[in-house]
Amino acid sequence: MFVCSCNMLTDRDVAEAAEEGATRPGEIHARRGCRPKCGNCVPGMMCLLRRAIQARAQATLRDTAILDVTILDEGVAAA
Ligand code: FES
Repeated sequence: MFVCSCNMLTDRDVAEAAEEGATRPGEIHARRGCRPKCGNCVPGMMCLLRRAIQARAQATLRDTAILDVTILDEGVAAA
């Protein structure tokens, strides 16, 4: 799905840029070698960025919880 029609950026571009650490629409444009023109895409990009950042934070928390349980399980097994 195209998110930025001026630069032909897609939701995949936003997701990949977020994965690479982008936190602002301007960073997404810069990572794809372009600049915002009309700015109509900014609200949509902000929404997609928020979702991607929240999903990554939840995945990190989940991984941390799994790691904690594994360490606890190993501690119980070793005791
Ligand atoms: S739609 Fe993205 S700059 Fe115009």
